[in-house]
Amino acid sequence: MAQINDHYLKLKSGYLFPEIGRRIKFFSDANPTAKVIRLGIGDVTRPLAPAVIAAFHRGVDDLTRVNSFRGYGPEQGYDWLIDTVIANCFQSRGVQLKPSEIFISDGSKCDCANILDIFALGNKVAVGDPVYPVYNDTNVMVGRTGAADSQGYYDGIRYLTCTAENNFIPAIPTEKVDLIYLCFPNNPTGAVASKEQLQKWVDYALAHEAIILFDAAYEAFITGPEIPHSIYEIPGAGKCAIEFRSFSKSAGFTGVRCALTVVPEALSGKNAQGEPVALNALWNRRQTTKFNGVSYPVQRAAEAVYSPEGQQQNQEIVRYYLENARLIREGLEAVAVSCYGGVNAPYIWLKTPGGMSSWGFFDKLLNECHLVGTPGSGFGPSGEGYFRLSAFGQREDVEEAMSRIKKNLA
Ligand code: MLT
Repeated sequence: MAQINDHYLKLKSGYLFPEIGRRIKFFSDANPTAKVIRLGIGDVTRPLAPAVIAAFHRGVDDLTRVNSFRGYGPEQGYDWLIDTVIANCFQSRGVQLKPSEIFISDGSKCDCANILDIFALGNKVAVGDPVYPVYNDTNVMVGRTGAADSQGYYDGIRYLTCTAENNFIPAIPTEKVDLIYLCFPNNPTGAVASKEQLQKWVDYALAHEAIILFDAAYEAFITGPEIPHSIYEIPGAGKCAIEFRSFSKSAGFTGVRCALTVVPEALSGKNAQGEPVALNALWNRRQTTKFNGVSYPVQRAAEAVYSPEGQQQNQEIVRYYLENARLIREGLEAVAVSCYGGVNAPYIWLKTPGGMSSWGFFDKLLNECHLVGTPGSGFGPSGEGYFRLSAFGQREDVEEAMSRIKKNLA
């Protein structure tokens, strides 16, 4: 019998969203006529922008003709998409990157997990608490941790507490860590970090030769002009940070799949002899061995996100979700529920009323309002007593959800 990877058995329970799905199914089987509104998982509901879908179609048509057919593409992505990304996401914000520093992929979730391939198990990792569970769980899976304690903290991971008391911005550790996951705008809390706050992390990383793994999947939702969209807007970050970007939430690609990871050539780790090794070369080696690139029509669709029409249409979609977020925030505040986020992010992070537990509030909302959100404790022990609502729903569902909340929670 083949031996399994025992580290998987340390994982506390199922991944959060399948567990929520299980509870919804149980409820719906028992209440088949209830119209359940889902504001749980951050999955988009608006269709692809017309300019994007037109480019997608053209990409498919290219595959029907001998002279424009494409087989395997470059594992790192086509240069026309990489050049477009550099010009629109980075140069436009004063950040200079080389094409060889961008790696197009099929998702930030996978990249955040796969990046662990190039780092030794002995590295000390810091994650937020609460946190996007992928950062924590993938470190458990590769064997970087011991078992979880009764609260759910894994031995070997440094947890950075994020609560209302620190405005959901974690304090810099006083000891040395090697890999630091930061996500801004934050999932799940919706918090954003200022340039000054990020500068402190960059200074820490440079001083301790640490690497920041910066998840910018939600940068399109930033509305404040002073808030950085990329970690590379912070001086020094080009020497200590890897950035993950995604088309999922900014352009509705959760089902289409396209993302990118930036690994600057100036980034180094050290080998067993203590000599510096370029992380860009390692990631390139990893990707070219384990990944065959994103499909040609999908990359054509992604390229069209940056056409003038594509930008204008996608900005409209982002505004639609931010308007949902406003409605959710105001609806909650009207029934005296304290909430955070939802201004520069598509998530509203609320304090459960009456000191209820996160799962207790989940069950109450599901049973009384037929509404699904995400229990804060699913994102880590410091998320207990909090709850997340996603603004990615359809407008009529958001309005209906808020009227049910008003009726049941007031
Ligand atoms: C979430 O709801 O936290 C996200 O949709 C999960 C993801 O992007 O993988």
